[in-house]
Amino acid sequence: MKIPNNPYFCAMNYAIEARQLTKTFQQGKQNAYTALSAVDLRVGAGKAVVIQGASGSGKSTLLTILGCLAKPTSGEYTCLGERVSKWSEKFLTTFRREKIGIIFQQFQLIQGFTAFENIALPLIPLKLAYPTLEKRVHEAAELTNISTKLTQKVELLSGGEQQRVAIARAIVNKPAILLADEPTASLDSENASQILALFENLKNTGTTLLLTTHDVRVATHALVDDIWRMQDGLISS
Ligand SMILES: Nc1ncnc2c1ncn2[C@@H]1O[C@H](COP(=O)(O)OP(=O)(O)O)[C@@H](O)[C@H]1O
Ligand SMILES: [Mg+2]
Repeated sequence: MKIPNNPYFCAMNYAIEARQLTKTFQQGKQNAYTALSAVDLRVGAGKAVVIQGASGSGKSTLLTILGCLAKPTSGEYTCLGERVSKWSEKFLTTFRREKIGIIFQQFQLIQGFTAFENIALPLIPLKLAYPTLEKRVHEAAELTNISTKLTQKVELLSGGEQQRVAIARAIVNKPAILLADEPTASLDSENASQILALFENLKNTGTTLLLTTHDVRVATHALVDDIWRMQDGLISS
């Protein structure tokens, strides 16, 4: 939703709050391009929001900023009550690892590593005992229907299988916020509905979800609380 005028909304608990977020690539150069233009948004804790918009409208740029992977050129971002702009890189890395799961549009899996190793990556810094790590990976793999491919190198998997590995990796840390960039784009109907059911379960356990999609299967799903439209770096509800 867009920020309402009602002052009582300020007292609500938001997982994501952004004010006047702007991102200009190549700033100051002749080919400068503003991909986000003063975006205001709020996502209530435990809510699921879908962002729709044409290719190039700024969806992925927004998600990388909300995922604390890139800084906005200007504007303020408050994530789970913490002002992101105030944080050191070190704190940001830990915070991101513990609180945010991201499913990238291009999956960003590590080639040459198995599905198991890719899913396990976010757990490595936690220095868990190996049986605990293994259990967590198997749980995430089961939820995403990829258990039978865990020993396979990721580059040998199909697009849909790679997408499910990427989803498993994003949820293996049980994040408070799950950001997903076109999460069902490579999935057939059966796997898409399974992933949407998984997202619904995560939401029921309190996870906040922000999904970009072109997929009507996502936008029309019962889990979605709100749909926003993005155009030329601007959001409308
Ligand atoms: N690193 C970058 N440098 C310059 N322009 C970029 C960069 N990343 C994205 N853009 C541009 O910003 C716009 C928004 O891109 P993106 O956020 O990927 O849109 P979407 O995900 O909605 O397709 C596009 O015009 C894209 O070319
Ligand atoms: Mg994109």
